[in-house]
Amino acid sequence: MMRTFRNSALIILACWLPVAAAPQEAGFGLSSPAALQESGFLRFLLPRFSLKTGIQIALQAENPEVIISTESGVRLMGGLGQVFYLQTTAADTPRGHKARRFAAWLDSDIGRRAIAQFKIDGAQVFTPIETLQAAEAAIIFRGSAAQGERFSFANCGRCHVVGDRNRMKGIGSTPSFSVLRSLPDWEERFSTFYARIPHPALVQLEGVSPPFDPAFPPANQPLRLTLDQLEDILTFVSALAPADLGAPLVEH
Ligand code: HEC
Repeated sequence: MMRTFRNSALIILACWLPVAAAPQEAGFGLSSPAALQESGFLRFLLPRFSLKTGIQIALQAENPEVIISTESGVRLMGGLGQVFYLQTTAADTPRGHKARRFAAWLDSDIGRRAIAQFKIDGAQVFTPIETLQAAEAAIIFRGSAAQGERFSFANCGRCHVVGDRNRMKGIGSTPSFSVLRSLPDWEERFSTFYARIPHPALVQLEGVSPPFDPAFPPANQPLRLTLDQLEDILTFVSALAPADLGAPLVEH
C-alpha cells in the first residue's frame, strides 16, 4: 500500500515538475539601476545569455557578483542619457566564474550586438562602448616582464596562483593571476592592488601608501615595492594568457 502511494506520488511529481516554474538555482546575481529594469532591457538581454549557456541570473540577489551602475566599473554602454558601467567579482568560485563568463559575453561581438538590438518603439536605446579590448591593446607597459615575474612569484605567490610554477601553492579562495588578467578592468585592479583589501595591511608602495598606523602595526614584515616594481608587475601580467572564460564550466 505504502509503496503504491509513493510510486503514484512520484509519478505526479514527475509530471508536475517540468511544467511548474520551480525556482532554478541561480548561476550568479546581478544588480542594476531601476531605469534599466523598467526599460525592459534585462528581460530582453538576459535570456539570450541564459539560453546559450544554461546559466540563470538572479536579479534581486543579496551580494550580486555583477553590478551594472551609472557610477563605477568599466564602461559598458550609453543610453537613456547616461553611461552604464559594469563591475564583476574576482572571486574564484563557481558563481564568480559564471559572472565573468557573462561579462566576457557582454564584451563579445554577440553580446554587443544583443545590446544594440534592444529597441523601444522601433528605436535603438543603447550603444555598446567598444572600449574594452581596444583600450587594452592601447596600453603599453615599459617595465621588465622578467623582473615582474620574479617579483610576483616571490611575493604574491604565497596567496595567488601566479602561473603554472606555483599552481598548487596559492590559497584556494584567492583569485589566480590568470583569472584576474581575464577581467576587462584587470589593469585598473593591478595598478591599484596595494590600496585594495587585503593588501593595505601587508603592502607599502613607496611614496604612495600612507605609513602604517603605529597602533596597528602589520603582523608580518610589510612587503615594500617601488613604482618601478609595480610597472614590472603590470608588464608581466599584461603578457599573461587570460583564463579561458568561454570554456564549459565544470560544477563541483
Ligand atoms: C596575504 C595574501 C596575499 C598576498 C601576499 C597578495 N595578495 Fe593579492 N589578493 C589577496 C586576496 C585574498 C585577494 C582577494 C580579495 C577579494 O576578492 O576581496 C587578492 C586580490 C588581488 C587583486 C584583485 C583586487 C581586486 O580588488 O579585484 C590583485 C590585482 C592582487 N591581489 C594583486 C596582488 C599582487 C600583485 C601581489 C604581490 C605583489 C599580491 N596581490 C599579494 C591576497 C594576497
